[in-house]
Amino acid sequence: MPSAPIAVIGGGLMGAGIAQMFAAAGHSVCIAEPSADVRAAIPARVAEGLAQLGQDPALGAHVTATADLAEAVRSATYVTEAAPERLDLKRAIFADLVTHAPRACILASNTSVMPIGSIADGLDTADRIVGTHWWNPAALIPLVEVVQSARTSDATVAATMALLASIGKAPAHVRKDTAGFVANRLQHALWREAIAMVADGICDARTIDDCVKNSFGLRLAVLGPLENADLVGIDLTQDIHRTILPELDRSAGPNPLLGELIAAGKLGFKSGEGFQAWSPAAQAELRQRLVDHLLAARQCPPAARQ
Ligand SMILES: NC(=O)c1ccc[n+]([C@@H]2O[C@H](COP(=O)([O-])OP(=O)(O)OC[C@H]3O[C@@H](n4cnc5c(N)ncnc54)[C@H](O)[C@@H]3O)[C@@H](O)[C@H]2O)c1
Repeated sequence: MPSAPIAVIGGGLMGAGIAQMFAAAGHSVCIAEPSADVRAAIPARVAEGLAQLGQDPALGAHVTATADLAEAVRSATYVTEAAPERLDLKRAIFADLVTHAPRACILASNTSVMPIGSIADGLDTADRIVGTHWWNPAALIPLVEVVQSARTSDATVAATMALLASIGKAPAHVRKDTAGFVANRLQHALWREAIAMVADGICDARTIDDCVKNSFGLRLAVLGPLENADLVGIDLTQDIHRTILPELDRSAGPNPLLGELIAAGKLGFKSGEGFQAWSPAAQAELRQRLVDHLLAARQCPPAARQ
């Protein structure tokens, strides 16, 4: 019998991937999902995800689904909420979790950017409420940011980090409950500058992406930005920053170029054009290239990446 029952709230893109990771590690997983169609699709999606990683699709039998949240969490030791990114919805779900999950059960939210304290605000037993920000695809990106709110206990953080490490993830402790946590703040600092350069006519979108992919993008998986600063020297880093930082975009809101693209119906893949045009074939090709790259990265031992 699989041990340590896990519950996942929401069986969509992230929830199914998170359930897959726990099932592959031998846990029984119960998903609470209101949509009958989504529930019906879960076994095939989990089995497909396991097969993609070369794991036994039969492990998917450890994943069950129900429409009833109370039933899903009744004997759970750990819950991950992966419902839509709406504060009112998440607050209602966590109120239910506090009521129905055993007191010792840890309650984690996969919110993309919301401070965990805003979800836990006003709820009892907030010491066991923690953020766990998984990345998409959940089974292929190692990082899970473990976000500690002012009320999350150290014991909850430690148990969450240990559980995630035990199923093969690379948990990172985020000590302040700040919007965007760590990795999205870094990622969107880069996106802000990239969009500003296109808006300023410095180069086109394709050139931005080519510059990243053919330079520091190649190094990033083995050389983090602060390792790189040490490598080139803190003194050189300071000199570079004196010249370049005054030039960088520091807008507090989204670049107006985004609004112009949206007004023109250029929403990206979903409309066939964003910063550039995307035929269905080009979209499929890029998605496959990403999966192939991430699968190849999995073959690289963590020690070689660290
Ligand atoms: N998609 C990503 O790349 C990504 C990455 C990291 C984090 N997240 C976050 O993960 C969460 C889920 O995102 P997603 O992309 O899986 O969304 P999704 O729309 O694919 O899945 C959400 C699921 O929750 C279900 N749901 C709706 N109301 C519910 C309720 N009351 N109880 C239980 N389930 C309910 C929906 O039916 C749906 O199946 C969001 O908070 C999102 O911001 C998403």
